[in-house]
Amino acid sequence: MGWARRGRPAIMQAMNDFVMAFIGGGNMAGAIVGGLRHAGVDARRLLVVEPQQARRDFLQQQFGVRVQPEPDAPLEAAELLVWAVKPQQFAEAARALRARAAGAARALQLSIMAGVRCAAIERLVGASQVVRAMPNTPALVGRGVSGVYANPACGEGARARAEQVLRAAGSVVWVEQEAALDAVTAVSGSGPAYVFYLMEMMIAGGVELGLSEAVAHRLALATVGGAAALAEASPLSPARLREQVTSQGGTTAAALQVLGARDVAGAFAEALRAAARRSADLADALERDS
Ligand SMILES: NC(=O)c1ccc[n+]([C@@H]2O[C@H](COP(=O)([O-])OP(=O)(O)OC[C@H]3O[C@@H](n4cnc5c(N)ncnc54)[C@H](OP(=O)(O)O)[C@@H]3O)[C@@H](O)[C@H]2O)c1
Repeated sequence: MGWARRGRPAIMQAMNDFVMAFIGGGNMAGAIVGGLRHAGVDARRLLVVEPQQARRDFLQQQFGVRVQPEPDAPLEAAELLVWAVKPQQFAEAARALRARAAGAARALQLSIMAGVRCAAIERLVGASQVVRAMPNTPALVGRGVSGVYANPACGEGARARAEQVLRAAGSVVWVEQEAALDAVTAVSGSGPAYVFYLMEMMIAGGVELGLSEAVAHRLALATVGGAAALAEASPLSPARLREQVTSQGGTTAAALQVLGARDVAGAFAEALRAAARRSADLADALERDS
């Protein structure tokens, strides 16, 4: 797992002086909790509210954290609340929190829920400091990236705390406008699916050319992973790296010519616009329903 390769003594030190609670203990919460525990955060400082008994047992056994089925009094001690329920579960979860642990509204609220705007969290939780993040699924192996926005009530300290939590699941990129999270969703939130799609197409293309599925699969995955590692390590832009491997009249040029003729770049731009529009529409719909 990616976590093992990364030492985070600074996170550990900073995180061990406050209590944080997760509302919802599903996949994403599990990934962040796992990352925090790997970084050395004390299990006693982590509390998870999760209705499913099996999931609570898993989190407790795997990470040693405190778990509870309802948002009860212990949550009042939390200085940071991570909202990790499904967007459509948020209104109900916020109502339960206000009924049973209203003091938790004083905490910094960090939401990873897609399409729930800061205003909705301020209103339904009765909170003032809200940080909204859009992570992605490589968080499950500690290699996610989160686009993050903080509402104006958050000072430097609140932003730093939210970032420490999110870094347990990967890297963090701040945006200054909340609306930019729709674009973040289009690029990195939905992004892993585009890369998986690319892998699928490379595998299918390899099989059509006579490779076995297993060989094509290994080649495609190693190529995507290797190219990403090279792009990360290199000072050159992806466009320059692409040009470097495209010699005139060569094999790569032949392939890229076909992609250009089919306007794959245009299709991609349109796909990202569709994702961003859908993200904004979903947020509007949630706002109408809550
Ligand atoms: N997965 C992604 O790629 C991704 C990327 C970016 C953002 N997100 C966001 O991350 C959030 C969590 O996603 P996920 O994939 O981790 O979902 P998930 O696995 O379904 O986790 C949500 C968990 O919260 C529990 N829950 C439901 N109502 C609750 C309540 N009132 N109080 C406490 N817990 C409650 C759910 O239990 P039940 O199963 O019994 O309902 C479930 O175990 C979502 O808002 C999603 O938009 C996900």
